[in-house]
Amino acid sequence: MKSLFPTKAAGLCLAAALVCLSVKSSEGVKSEAIVPCSRSDPKLSDCLLKLSPRIIAGFTELHPEFPAARIRDPQKIGTILSKTGDSSIGLSFKLTDNVLYGQKTDVVKDLKIDMKRRDLKVIIFCPRYEILCKYEMSGKVLFLPITGKGNGNITAVNTTFDLNIKWDIVKRDGVKYLKPRTYSYKIRPERTYLHFDNLFNGDKYLGEQMNQFMNDNHKELYSVFIPAFEKVLAEEDKQELTEILSVLPYDELFLD
Ligand SMILES: *[C@@H]1O[C@H](CO)[C@@H](O)[C@H](O)[C@H]1NC(C)=O
Ligand SMILES: *[C@@H]1O[C@H](CO)[C@@H](O)[C@H](O)[C@H]1NC(C)=O
Repeated sequence: MKSLFPTKAAGLCLAAALVCLSVKSSEGVKSEAIVPCSRSDPKLSDCLLKLSPRIIAGFTELHPEFPAARIRDPQKIGTILSKTGDSSIGLSFKLTDNVLYGQKTDVVKDLKIDMKRRDLKVIIFCPRYEILCKYEMSGKVLFLPITGKGNGNITAVNTTFDLNIKWDIVKRDGVKYLKPRTYSYKIRPERTYLHFDNLFNGDKYLGEQMNQFMNDNHKELYSVFIPAFEKVLAEEDKQELTEILSVLPYDELFLD
């Protein structure tokens, strides 16, 4: 008679916009660890890096074993609001109904985990992200007045994503859990294509001129749009990771 080993979907929580995603591992039969790596392995970073393609492959699915984990591709992102602006870009904008496409093509380029310092750094590359949204804008872009409300499309090509997570170990009923303390993104696209429908109340000529102008000056606009995105993405992903880790005891996360 054959004995049945429990084959439990393994999972792990690191990667770009990050979440724990289940890794359906056929060779993972020996262990029920969520992350099939050893905490004490001096090459833990390499072990996690090797797992990353399987984690990213899970970005398009829900994972019932982690109810708090959302689908990452496409990923819905909450309202992105900016009321600030410097002297040349005094722009207020509100982006709602944001949907981010493309994370399933993420590639983890580098990963460094330091269990003692409780610090994870991941560098991710994505050939193409597309963010579709509803926008409202008013103010100035490089001294030119702008106003509008409608559908927006922000497409980023060859984007490098730096993720840094630091965590604490907390105890609940005598059981240890990881709890993210800080969570940050730095997003660095090589090229961004912007398109906003219906600028200037639908004035076709002015709208096209402005879209063209923004694309010609896309690098100057990074400081306007990117920090607002980084902040909302990081906050939402931190919240999600916190919920996921709050039900997975630290001592059961890794092989040992
Ligand atoms: C968004 O913009 C990109 C770049 O211009 C374009 O390739 C893509 O088709 C657009 N997406 C939609 C849904 O219009
Ligand atoms: C993106 O990277 C690819 C591969 O390195 C390169 O061929 C392409 O020209 C880059 N595209 C842009 C818009 O920078």
